[in-house]
Amino acid sequence: MKTYKIAAIPGDGIGTEVISAGVDVLHALAARDGNFALEVEDFDWGGDYYKRHGRMMPENGRDLIRNHDAILFGSAGHPDIPDHVTLWGLRLAICQPFDQYANVRPTRVLAGITSPLRKVDRTELDWVIVRENSEGEYAGVGGRVHQGLPLEAATDVSIMTRAGVERIMRFAFRLAQSRPRKLLTVVTKSNAQRHAMVMWDEIAGQIAAEFPDVTWDKMLVDAMTMRMVMKPESIDTVVATNLHADILSDLAAALAGSLGIAPTANLNPERDFPSMFEPIHGSAFDIMGKGIANPIGTFWSAVMMLEHLGEPQAAKRLMTAIERVTADHRFHTPDLGGTARTADVTEAVIAAIQGAND
Ligand code: IPM
Ligand code: MG
Repeated sequence: MKTYKIAAIPGDGIGTEVISAGVDVLHALAARDGNFALEVEDFDWGGDYYKRHGRMMPENGRDLIRNHDAILFGSAGHPDIPDHVTLWGLRLAICQPFDQYANVRPTRVLAGITSPLRKVDRTELDWVIVRENSEGEYAGVGGRVHQGLPLEAATDVSIMTRAGVERIMRFAFRLAQSRPRKLLTVVTKSNAQRHAMVMWDEIAGQIAAEFPDVTWDKMLVDAMTMRMVMKPESIDTVVATNLHADILSDLAAALAGSLGIAPTANLNPERDFPSMFEPIHGSAFDIMGKGIANPIGTFWSAVMMLEHLGEPQAAKRLMTAIERVTADHRFHTPDLGGTARTADVTEAVIAAIQGAND
């Protein structure tokens, strides 16, 4: 029997609540499936760790998780610590050195959930956003001089490399090709950004030639926000830069009913390093410790993790269980307008896993 070693990093805020729910669900799934086991190791990195040790994770942190099969991550963020410190000290300190360059964010309106779009039918909003996750606006290149003086200056330089753009385009075209509609939208802003985004567009055209069966189009990012709202059915797979996709994926999550549902996979497709799976929502300090966080974003991220590990049956079983539970309004947490608690949703999903005979 295959045993997968999972590194769980709950992080901060509601991260601890949803990851513990996610681990319970994964164990229930392994028990139900019987073909694989999970060995989950917990790492207490994040804001509290920072307060004790002056850093978000130990210096050899990455070595401790390098040989795990996957990472399940909650969120990083602390009210007393600047956001860029928590982000660069933990999440990006894992994503970038582990070369998790493909960030994949599926969006669907799950059973029982209502989209704020008045006219949208559940089947009309089924997207996957591919976010370039290793460079671009998040390259971390820049500097700040003359702090506090009137001539203070600061730069954040977006870096795009041919290798980086080619690999994310190829990944996105391949993903689009694997989906029934074989449809890819390349998001750009080459009308205003005249160097890197122009190269981005050129490379999209070059990679497109390798995928003659994929229909693709190009869309300026501002116009894309409109299209997502006005013509959601015209979209299937989307590829965008690090920052553009960050913004578009929050819009996508909201259009699908709640940020509490949306999952993410940070993939190193070559499998030289472990990939990392996390809900999109962040640490949400306003609801922390209340037991009302929506664990569905973590459960769906666990589905993506199982797919990546090569357990499609278990992944399907979990997704079916999730939708069985979201279909029932009694199990909607406050972000969905309900009164259910994290534990109610978790128990219901576990019961659906145990009962499911598909
Ligand atoms: C996301 C988040 C992060 C990002 C934040 C927490 C820095 O918004 O994963 O989309 O911008 O990458
Ligand atoms: Mg975001």
